[in-house]
Amino acid sequence: MTEQLEIPQSGHKRISKTECMAIILAPLSEEFGFRHLWIGYTGSGKTYNNLALIAAAEGSHRHLIITDQKNRNTPYIALGDITEIPHIQALDTIEPDNRNHISAIVRGPRLTGDEMDLIDFDVLGKKLWELSVKEDKGVLFGIDELSDACQGERAWIRGDTKRSYMRLLYTQGRTNRVSIAACTQHVQEVPRAAISNSDTLGIFCQDRKELPYYRNNGFLDDREISIVENLGKYEFLLMKRGMESVICRF
Ligand SMILES: Nc1ncnc2c1ncn2[C@@H]1O[C@H](COP(=O)(O)OP(=O)(O)OP(=O)(O)O)[C@@H](O)[C@H]1O
Ligand SMILES: [Mg+2]
Repeated sequence: MTEQLEIPQSGHKRISKTECMAIILAPLSEEFGFRHLWIGYTGSGKTYNNLALIAAAEGSHRHLIITDQKNRNTPYIALGDITEIPHIQALDTIEPDNRNHISAIVRGPRLTGDEMDLIDFDVLGKKLWELSVKEDKGVLFGIDELSDACQGERAWIRGDTKRSYMRLLYTQGRTNRVSIAACTQHVQEVPRAAISNSDTLGIFCQDRKELPYYRNNGFLDDREISIVENLGKYEFLLMKRGMESVICRF
């Protein structure tokens, strides 16, 4: 008599939060920085997941710099005692903790109260690049929201006279142990190269507005598009080159 095998409800593989973290953080074990990007509409869970990722990764980096000039109320309680500063210039005022690590959240207008006081990502990117060149234990850069940090593509593509430090951090920061954990609401508003330079992507449910872009740019295949279209609340598709995409939820 042959036994009937139980057929899973869905053919899509699901992984746990722990397994997901291990995949995203894998480059650290080879002394490289990682690059991860969360993509999802407002309320999908990007900041929540990114904080969990940052908490898991920060110990491997001497510097943790988060930029967030968007969220009015700080959701950074999860990270414990971390200082908010208006601009990156104030980083030098922060004392290292008992591990000799330095952490800060750059808040721009959310701290100064002046809506004109936006973060200058050229200045900030340059500072992080300098830190990564000097320090041997790396820099973890948390970016909420990546499209603001790149101003579309303006702070990414520059003429020969000015270096784009945002691009440099993405394209050459890996070997300098720069890790990037970023969030964006709209995939079409971030530089394509930021997507192709991300080792891993976490894509929450997307609809007809965005899905053709993924298809036309070859970011998702048909199977992945149908998964992303039907993801549940807080679920995301985890993608990594050379790995079959999987579903996860923190
Ligand atoms: N996996 C989860 N389990 C339980 N609650 C979650 C989960 N993910 C997110 N949340 C909650 O859902 C709400 C929205 O999440 P979050 O702020 O991370 O969204 P977001 O994608 O960053 O939105 P926005 O683009 O507006 O910044 C928050 O209150 C958060 O605590
Ligand atoms: Mg958010």
